[in-house]
Amino acid sequence: MTKATDKDRVWIFDTTLRDGEQSPGATMTHDEKLEIAGLLDEMGVDIIEAGFPIASEGDFKAVSEIAKNSVNSVICGLARANYADIDRCWEAVQHAGRPRIHTFIGTSPLHRAIPNLTQDEMADKIHETVTHARNLCDNVQWSPMDATRTEWDYLARVVEIAIKAGATTINIPDTVGYTAPVESADLIRRLIEDVPGADEVIFATHCHNDLGMATANSLAAVAGGARQIECTINGLGERAGNTALEEVVMAMKVRGDIMPYFTEIDTSKIMNISRRVATVSGFPVQFNKAIVGKNAFAHESGIHQDGMLKNPENFEIMRPEDVGLSGSSLPLGKHSGRAALRDKLGQLGVDVGDNQLKDIFVRFKELADRKKEVYDDDIIALVRAGEDPENDRLQIVSMKVLCGTGGPAESTVEMEVDGKEVIATEQGDGPVDATFRAIRAIHPNKARLQLYQVHAVTEGTDAQATVSVRLEEDGMIATGQSANTDTVVASAKAYVNALNRLLIRRDKAGPGADVREISYKDVT
Ligand code: KIV
Ligand code: ZN
Repeated sequence: MTKATDKDRVWIFDTTLRDGEQSPGATMTHDEKLEIAGLLDEMGVDIIEAGFPIASEGDFKAVSEIAKNSVNSVICGLARANYADIDRCWEAVQHAGRPRIHTFIGTSPLHRAIPNLTQDEMADKIHETVTHARNLCDNVQWSPMDATRTEWDYLARVVEIAIKAGATTINIPDTVGYTAPVESADLIRRLIEDVPGADEVIFATHCHNDLGMATANSLAAVAGGARQIECTINGLGERAGNTALEEVVMAMKVRGDIMPYFTEIDTSKIMNISRRVATVSGFPVQFNKAIVGKNAFAHESGIHQDGMLKNPENFEIMRPEDVGLSGSSLPLGKHSGRAALRDKLGQLGVDVGDNQLKDIFVRFKELADRKKEVYDDDIIALVRAGEDPENDRLQIVSMKVLCGTGGPAESTVEMEVDGKEVIATEQGDGPVDATFRAIRAIHPNKARLQLYQVHAVTEGTDAQATVSVRLEEDGMIATGQSANTDTVVASAKAYVNALNRLLIRRDKAGPGADVREISYKDVT
């Protein structure tokens, strides 16, 4: 194996907070975005795409704050091909030690038809807008959206224009997840060979996973000469998602023999950030997801377990510790003390202060009373479940549910609404429906339930359930999560959690405000 040199270094561009967050339902709060950006910076992500500043006041503030707090990462914002977008983006990212403007326009025949521009008109626009961005910032990324469905001659022409206008990174997006590995490698190789000035810039690859090829396409693009991969944690993103950061990074680490490239990512931080992104986005990680799925390192069958005990390399191509999983998963029980809990949290990569530990310990004891063995996943669910702030306007005080085969279920819910106790009893089609009706009777709202998902955290009938609820009201989307050994309680808390988030967003926007946000696809 040859030694990796600088030319083999691959830059990791994370767009969890932009392309990931923009996927319907994955909305994060301001504080959550800041926290995720901090974790990305800490794990060694080279460039963080923090948002789309012109999309909303919230996006602008988040990008500005992330820029101010950045330590090592370049902070990038997205802008369409117009001066207003680019100026707003610069206003937000300029606070970073290392700012970047990322401007783009759809160049394929289908995308050119949206603003109704001829090839020449679009070429002029690219020249003007990239020049404008470069006059503001010396780090400019340009993307021809839907590049993989753009005619070759036109793509080569506009890439050359963007380079001449001062772009320092050229990103080639496979916007609709249409390309395949051989094509992905060829496209980058040809651009580097044929476009004048190509050797002066970094080529990036940005793949979507519609055909399940995003990781393969990104790695193939690197083989073709790309040196920046655009990706998201857990592959979060619209439709089938974006390239998963953990997959490309671990693939290059494990298969350095045939992919002699390297990144500066601290892979031991992968699991922690994966869990945080799953929690705050409300998009749980599929159990058998590569690298970060619950089963990715689980060896259930007898033959596998036997082989693993003899030598882990029989069935493991990477060590759990490499991605931040503690090798052993010994459960805690009701006799475990605070020190054992702190130790376990440390192994799980969860940092807590003394007060938070106290609070988690109380809930751990309650759980250990109900459940014989408390596993790692139970502890993670406990940490997440403690995240309902005490000053939420809606709080569940108690609930009682009657259900069985004899008729409709009936739920009585007692809540505090802005400090006042209110009680309601409703019937429904099952206990969860009856409970949600009771909550709606207490707090009338027109939020539409977009998603209701239940996962058993561990095995057994005493397992905790984590429930995710996604609500939509007037174009605003909010997600709530909760965990409990009682699925109906977890459901009620997750529902109330999502309602509280809608209230926070509505309060921030002011009465009667139009809270809809611009999408990067709203081409003007
Ligand atoms: O998928 C895409 O084309 C994008 C661009 C804005 C880079 O996300
Ligand atoms: Zn994208």
